[in-house]
Parts: sequence; C-alpha cells; structure tokens
Amino acid sequence: MTTPSATLHTGQETRVVDVAIENGHALVTIDNPPVNPLSVSVRKGLMQAVRQVNEAKCETAAIVCAGRTFVAGGDISEFAGPPPLPHLPDVLDAIEASATPFIAVMHGTVLGGGLELALACAWRIADAKTKFGLPEVSLGLIPGAGGTQRLPRVIGLERAARMAANGKPVNARTFAEFGGLDLVFSGDPMQALAYFRAALPARPVNTSARTVENADLTELKAEIAKSAKGADAPMIALETTALAASLPFAEGSRIERRTHLDLRTSSQSRALRRLFFASRSVTRPDRLKAFEPAAINHVAIVGGGLMGAGIAAASLAAGHRVTLLERDETAAEAGRARVEAIIAGDLASGRITEDKAEARRANLAAGANYAAAFDADIAIEAVFEDPEVKRAVFGQLAAVMSPEALIATNTSYLDPNLISEGMPGPGRFLGLHFFSPANIMKLVEVVGTSATADQTMATAFAFARGLGKIPVETGVCDGFIGNRILSAYRRQADYMVADGASPYEVDKAMRTLGMPMGPYELQDRTGLQISWANRKRQLAAGTWPGRYVDIADKLCEIGRQGRGSPMKKGWYDHTGGVGQPDPEIETMVAAWRTEHATGGQSFTTDEIVLRIMAAIVNEANLILEEGIATSDTAVDIVWTEGYGFPKHLGGPMFWAEETGIERMREAFAAIEAQSPGSWKAAKVFQG
Ligand code: NAI
Repeated sequence: MTTPSATLHTGQETRVVDVAIENGHALVTIDNPPVNPLSVSVRKGLMQAVRQVNEAKCETAAIVCAGRTFVAGGDISEFAGPPPLPHLPDVLDAIEASATPFIAVMHGTVLGGGLELALACAWRIADAKTKFGLPEVSLGLIPGAGGTQRLPRVIGLERAARMAANGKPVNARTFAEFGGLDLVFSGDPMQALAYFRAALPARPVNTSARTVENADLTELKAEIAKSAKGADAPMIALETTALAASLPFAEGSRIERRTHLDLRTSSQSRALRRLFFASRSVTRPDRLKAFEPAAINHVAIVGGGLMGAGIAAASLAAGHRVTLLERDETAAEAGRARVEAIIAGDLASGRITEDKAEARRANLAAGANYAAAFDADIAIEAVFEDPEVKRAVFGQLAAVMSPEALIATNTSYLDPNLISEGMPGPGRFLGLHFFSPANIMKLVEVVGTSATADQTMATAFAFARGLGKIPVETGVCDGFIGNRILSAYRRQADYMVADGASPYEVDKAMRTLGMPMGPYELQDRTGLQISWANRKRQLAAGTWPGRYVDIADKLCEIGRQGRGSPMKKGWYDHTGGVGQPDPEIETMVAAWRTEHATGGQSFTTDEIVLRIMAAIVNEANLILEEGIATSDTAVDIVWTEGYGFPKHLGGPMFWAEETGIERMREAFAAIEAQSPGSWKAAKVFQG
C-alpha cells in the first residue's frame, strides 16, 4: 500500500524536511542547501518526522539528504546567540529512542552535527566516497549534541578521542574498519537502501546504552598538546570524550553540552568563527558580484623559479593548461623540472593518484617562445624583482595575448602601476601576489592598479578561488597589506635588539604568543637578501621611516644570508642542520650597540609581544585609513593565512580588541618613546 507523500511545513515556511512513507518504510529527506546544516527548521522537521513515522508505525525510517552532501554540520550562524528550540541533543535522543529505527544513508561530508545525527541512528550506510569527522575544534568548539559520548560507544575511545581532538575527517573505508558503518556502497543510494532493508540485521542496542572500554590516552594527549599550539578546544575535546569511559551517557552528554555552550562565547571560538565567515566574504567582494568572471583555461607563467613553479603547480592542480615561459630552453627545462618535482612530491605523499599526476604533467608545456601564450586567458609573471625586467615581460605578453586576457605580476614590493604603465589595454593588468610555497599557501593578495577594470578583478578573484586560494584585495603601497605590516614588525624587533633584547629573546617571545617562528627565524628561513634589497631601495628613495638599525645589513655583507645561503648561517647557525643561536651574533650585536651608544634596556616577554603588536596594529590601522585594506578582517585573514599568526587569536586586529585599546595605546606610546620620530601614529593611537 502506498500512502501519499506527506510534506512538512516548518514554522519558517521553508520545506526542509520531507517525509514519504511507502510500504511501511519512511524516507525522511533533508533539503537545506547548500550543505544541509542542522538549522532550527531542520531540527523542527526532524522532530516532527520522528512523531510521524511512529504514528504510522513504520518498520524503518531512512534519513537522506538532497544535494551534494549529507548534513555537513550545525548552523554556525546560530552560534552567536542562545540556540532556539528544539535543541539538537533532544532531537537526536528522540531519533535514538524512536520505536521505528532510523537508518542514516550518507554521501559527501558527514561532519559535526551530521555525524552526531548519524550516530543517533540505529544503522549507518554510506557511499564509498563519504568522509566523516568532528571538525568543531577548528571553530574553537567541541561537539554539543552527544558526539563525544556516542562516537566512542561506536568506534572505541582512542579513535573517537583522536577524531574529536584533531578535527580531521576519515574516509568511509577507515570509518567502516573502525566499526562506524553497517554498509559501504557505490552507486545509487536508494538501491543500496533497498538492499540493506531486504536483509535488515537485528536492531542493535542503542548507542547511548553501550559501555566504553577505557584506554590509555597519554600518548594522544602529548600529541594533541603539541599540535594544538595554544588552541584550547582540542584538549577539551579529548578530555570530554574520555568521560565516556567513566560516566553514563546522560551525564557525559550534559557536561559536553555545557562545555560546548561555554566555548561558544570564548575568545578563541569567536576569533575562529569570525575568520571562518571573513574567509568567505573577503574572498567575494560585493563590488564585484555584478561581474561574470571570464573562463580561464590556459594559464601562462613567466619565470619558472621558486614562485613560478609553485604557481604553475597550483594552476595544474586546478585543472588548467599551463605554459611556463623562461629566458631560454635550458631555464625552461629547469622550470619544468621544478614543477614536476612538486607533482612527484604530491604523488609520493599519496595526495594524488598516478592518473592525476599524469594529467598534470600532460597539461604542462615549457619553453622560451612567448608566442605560446597567444591563447592564454591569464599570464602571471614571476621573474626577478626588477622593474625593467618585469616591464619587458609585460610588453612581450601584451604583444602576443588577446586584449581581453589578464596579465598579472607576482611582485612583492614593486608598484604594478609602474610595471604596466603605458601598455595597451590598461584595464587588464593587475598584481597577484602569491606566497611561498605557492602550491601550498592559500593567501593571494589581489592588487588593482589605478586602471584595473572591475571585470579583471572579478576574473582574478574567481581564478584564485578556483585554485583553492584565499584572495584578498589590497591597494598599492610598499609591500601591500602583508609585507608592509611585516616591515613594521621587523623594524620594532630590530629596535628592541638595538636597545638590549637578544634576537633569540624576541623570537622566543613571538613563539610564546603562538607564532610558528619569530622574526629572526623567519628571516633565516626566507633569506635575508630580499628584505636587504628592499631596505636599500627604500633608503635610496628616502622612504625609510625613521630610525635605521643596520645589523641585518652587516649580516648580509658577511654572507650570513640565512639557512639556504652557501654559509648556512643567518641570525642562527644552521650548519648542523638545526638552527642554533650563535655567540658570534651576540658579539656583533654587542659591538653594534657600543658603536651606536645604545643597549642596556631589557624587555620582558610580555613587553616584547606588546611592543611588536603595537607596531603591527598601528601599521594595520594606517593601511585601513589609507584604504589599502577594505576591512580589519581582511588584515586578519592576510596575517593568519600568510604569516602564521595563530587563527585562534583571530589575527592582529582581533587580538588588539581582546587585549584592550588602553593596553595597546600604552604599548604604542612606549615604542614612540623608544624610537622617537620613527612611527607615524594611526588615528586610534593619536593624542
Ligand atoms: P627566482 O629567482 O626563483 O625565479 C625567477 C625566475 O625568473 C628565474 O627562473 C629566471 O630564470 C626567470 N626569469 C628572469 N627573467 C626572465 C625573463 N625575462 N623571462 C622569463 N623568465 C625570466 O625568484 P622567485 O623567488 O620565484 O621570485 C619571483 C618573483 O616573485 C619576484 O618578483 C619576487 O619578488 C616574487 N615573490 C617572491 C616570493 C618568495 O618568497 N621568493 C614571495 C612572493 C613573491
């Protein structure tokens, strides 16, 4: 017998949960695009569905999702206030306690609340490509609807604690091996469901009623303490999961829920959620929404060095055809070899299959003849940081490419206006500043010139997003958003070294804040010569702001240009493989202080952090005042994605807000007093 499909209307007038009953079996379909989050309307719909399938005394009820994925999580937009009724734990308890047993039929990404929903069902079946995870920690949270208490009851304590604490998803095969799935299928989910129902196993004991065997989590704890790098949520997730071994489900869940709700208002979670939303809005500027991005198929890249090879690899990974242009055939082959080495690395690490590697290699051409760029939709130059060399490259590209095609420079410091000045079709030129290694780092600064067309910007943003990058718009200034702030950061670090701090103290202080490395370690990593060249340029142009500390120049002059330099020395001695503080540096710094009659001051870790942050936040505010960055979240995205500023601290602007304007003002006053005439004060620090 077939009953007509009953459609539920939730209070919100949106049809998000549909119940269809056929031959005594119910099909509950969630349709809440784009990723079926468990918004209040879905929760209401599911509650109603439980009632309905029980009233109809259905034998089974299957939950499926429309669109590209099963429920991919909770509704993050609800996290800012108190959660509206019904609450997810109650909905899941109702599903678990239902006389009609539920089957989760899954595809896509079953994350957070989605996995919690699946764990409340009697059975779980999934497409072989499905991924499962509890990523709440990436937003500074832990699961809030029984995830930490049901998961160990299904897959065991150690595995569950690991998934809850590291937030990383596992694939269907692994999750099935863990005992998380009753069937893995390929192809039509409805056929798989029919097959599963035809030989339905006996209903298992409800998940919440099972017991959990205790396990030794000492090693996992050490691992998580290390990888969390100051973020609180991972260890809290681990410890909450561990409660499953000692407490009954109801009690463990109550603690989990309370902890989850407390964490929603924590600084770290607010920071991470703000960045999460910003990484969506900043990468899609409103102004550009009216423009249809042009299709990009063929990408020409000029310069196959470090950056060019990385950008080429990223473009190939996105499925584009790539032509790498170099100075001559030998250099072109060297460039090709660099790109192929990246592809080989991806293959060796298991990130891609041999088929994919082959497709990428097949899409790559390398040569020295610019004519090959004639049908490229975009060209990106990554040649030497020399305005004349770059202008020559732009001219050659403009001569062979279609007037509609985009031409971009990857310059770090030069003005894209000057590189493109006087060239035909000024609207199509721009800067696309990638970060090293360009195949991995997600940040791309998109630099419009005074003539760049919005259509060009729209295409560039879409292209960058297509590479899986996070594009951020920046105006033209020395160093754009990121490197300009970095210069202020380094300047203040140098002032403290000049006045009495050791570079190793400064590095340690910034690591205490949560930076992956301090400013001097970073210089050793990237090489001292780039910023040296840049300082020389600024000094020659008379644009160096204030007090000049030339200790780094002295290091460069004697060949101490960083880890990768022939000497394998910079601020640290890397000759033994791992960078070690070097007494020779202490001697050089002491001699410099004597010569300049400075030194004698000492700075606590807190003072170092606050003074450096004052310099960073001041520069960021100047950048905002000048309209170089469009919002404080844009600055925070640049510094968290491009410079390793800890995401759980939200970025420099969020950090300053949390630290309090008064403390920041005091710190700024201290750096002004320390180096008079060296800082232009942003409005917030004036007076
Ligand atoms: P690199 O020295 O590794 O590579 C430059 C390549 O350009 C060399 O392979 C060279 O043969 C080639 N080249 C030079 N003149 C050429 C011409 N006329 N035609 C074709 N090819 C030519 O330099 P790297 O580090 O890749 O930097 C390239 C650009 O990217 C620079 O503008 C740099 O400021 C910028 N950049 C560098 C970053 C880094 O971390 N190294 C980060 C972001 C931007």
